[in-house]
Amino acid sequence: METNRLSKTIEAALNAQMTNEAHNAQIYLAYASWADSRGYDGIANFLFRHANEERNHMMKFLEYILKRGGKVVVAPIPGPGEDPVSMQDCFEKVFKYEVENTTNIYEIVNISMAEKDWATWNFLQWFVKEQTEEETLALGLLDKIKIAGGAAAKDDALYSLNQELAKTPDDATLAQDVTVENP
Ligand code: FEO
Repeated sequence: METNRLSKTIEAALNAQMTNEAHNAQIYLAYASWADSRGYDGIANFLFRHANEERNHMMKFLEYILKRGGKVVVAPIPGPGEDPVSMQDCFEKVFKYEVENTTNIYEIVNISMAEKDWATWNFLQWFVKEQTEEETLALGLLDKIKIAGGAAAKDDALYSLNQELAKTPDDATLAQDVTVENP
């Protein structure tokens, strides 16, 4: 009796995304370590916390595959690539990877829609919202480094940014949560 509620295509796409999320966690771990080794412990703290978020995303995909009767394939995780060359480069890369991740999620949404797999479509809506948050957070990092002086940011500006990011919440406020009274 067939108990797998996922098509082969969806199952493969979900497994691939599980690995993508693990890859993102590796990237954040590498960038956090890079920032810490340069003395930016607050920025490192922010990035380490984010690495955990990515592991949680990975786990959500894994659990969903299992709960739908599918087969989880734990694949090798690609390396994080080169270290950033500057704080601006670090934040630009974070933004780039988040946009790539959004594209990957949208692609599985497209497949689920084409297959009329509404359970998977519904599961993925959490990630659609999450990626809006992640991109907002990454855009916020780019704003902060721009105000700090961009590629030419001085030590005192980076020091302030370091202090601030140590306390920055993990979640960004989305446009849909904003009101006139609370912009
Ligand atoms: Fe799991 Fe930052 O996306």
